[in-house]
Amino acid sequence: MKLLLHKVCGQPAALPVTIRRCGPADADAFYALQNEVCAAMPHPEQFVPDTLENITAYLTGDLCLGVYDGARLGAYFILRYCGQSEHNYAAFLGVPKSEWDHWANADSAIVHPDWRGNGLQRKLLEAALPLLRPGIVGIGATVSPENQYSLNNALASGFTIAARREMYGGYDRYLLKKMV
Ligand SMILES: CC(C)(COP(=O)(O)OP(=O)(O)OC[C@H]1O[C@@H](n2cnc3c(N)ncnc32)[C@H](O)[C@@H]1OP(=O)(O)O)[C@@H](O)C(=O)NCCC(=O)NCCS
Repeated sequence: MKLLLHKVCGQPAALPVTIRRCGPADADAFYALQNEVCAAMPHPEQFVPDTLENITAYLTGDLCLGVYDGARLGAYFILRYCGQSEHNYAAFLGVPKSEWDHWANADSAIVHPDWRGNGLQRKLLEAALPLLRPGIVGIGATVSPENQYSLNNALASGFTIAARREMYGGYDRYLLKKMV
């Protein structure tokens, strides 16, 4: 899917980029972008980074979209199918275990600072919806209450706040859900 970025490094631009489904070959690029963005975050507790091993696993079995300018990855979105695992956000949303297979986790979204302001987090979710595995009825997500950019995007994309609780071993998070 082709897209035009209208802002690059905060300046007006018209940069053609491609949103595409990614696989294990993209793992190093995803991991490098995650680490670069995390290292520059003023509040690192708002994003819990993942290992290369886990990211490779998501790229192998889940739904991962990347935004590329040629060979450069500038943004990505990872959606996970956690099924019966305790990591399924459906578990925290009060969904009966028999229905967990029909729920997906909006796991992470990252946009390089150079490309921010193009609504890419929302556009990545929109691009993912038609690609969801058949049978998925809902998406769960977690967002730090302090992460205004991600929270605004999630609410604008139709997520609603279901709860506020500690997650990932002590991080304050809103738990959000969206029916699809
Ligand atoms: C959350 C995130 C993905 C949003 O990026 P995005 O889709 O480009 O954001 P938007 O296009 O909605 O940006 C809207 C405005 O907020 C600004 N903005 C977005 N994220 C920002 C940030 N982290 N810091 C400062 N300003 C930010 C944009 O520049 C834009 O400003 P403008 O209206 O003056 O142009 C991005 O901030 C990010 O990668 N954050 C770090 C990782 C993270 O927290 N991910 C979410 C949890 S998984």
